[in-house]
Amino acid sequence: MTEPTETAATFHRIAEERRTIRAFLPDPVPPEVLDRCLDSALRAASSSNLQPWEFVILKDPEVRKQANAICFEQRGPQTAPVLLAIVTHRGTQKRHCRFILDTLQERGILRKSQQQYWGKLMPLIYAQGPCGILGIFKKAASRVTSLFRPMHNMLSRADLRVMTHKSTALAAATFMLALRAEGFDSCPMEGFDPWRARKLLKLPRGADVCMFLAIGKRAEKGLWWERILVPREWTVREL
Ligand SMILES: Cc1cc2nc3c(=O)[nH]c(=O)nc-3n(C[C@H](O)[C@H](O)[C@H](O)COP(=O)(O)O)c2cc1C
Repeated sequence: MTEPTETAATFHRIAEERRTIRAFLPDPVPPEVLDRCLDSALRAASSSNLQPWEFVILKDPEVRKQANAICFEQRGPQTAPVLLAIVTHRGTQKRHCRFILDTLQERGILRKSQQQYWGKLMPLIYAQGPCGILGIFKKAASRVTSLFRPMHNMLSRADLRVMTHKSTALAAATFMLALRAEGFDSCPMEGFDPWRARKLLKLPRGADVCMFLAIGKRAEKGLWWERILVPREWTVREL
């Protein structure tokens, strides 16, 4: 049997130690720790490398107060020294496609296929038309095509939401693990009012809060129970 390397063992320990913490000590999170964890989170994999996320650190006390209310006064955000909103954007793809193409160009390695991919295919996938009608049409056409050959189907507005939330959640997961590696804890939350959250954060169209994340050092009663894992055979299988 292969034993884990020291690095692997450290990683597995961090994954084991990461728990949702619902009450925090008032100890501050040093800004350099937050920055390092953000640096790691921003390196998460994302669909077509479009990095659709935005981490909004809620510093203003009045904004914090409103955010706590939006999170239904949960104890995690109430006690945490740091609260972030992790936002996902469907509207930044144009800017990010351009950036990727410009970067490849600057590096002198821009290929025609990449030009096609980020210059033509991505805008086509993200195009929704008025009231999302084009998206629904694209989706229907792709479903029919899929009867005859493999076909991409993330084409409607709802699909784009899934796509951007997926990538953003990966960045959030990386962030939480990085925080644990630095000795800090977190509480991810989708228990919040999404409409009020969008208003508070002044989000543009096509943006949603993926989750709020409370961060700090765990208080004595911050961990509510021992980990509960459903049986492995329900969640892992071979085919
Ligand atoms: C997307 C998401 C949303 C969550 N929302 C909340 C929440 O609103 N409030 C809360 O107390 N915990 C929330 N949690 C934490 C889960 O309840 C927790 O991850 C789960 O019980 C497993 O426990 P563990 O994280 O300690 O392993 C959320 C977790 C995720 C991933």
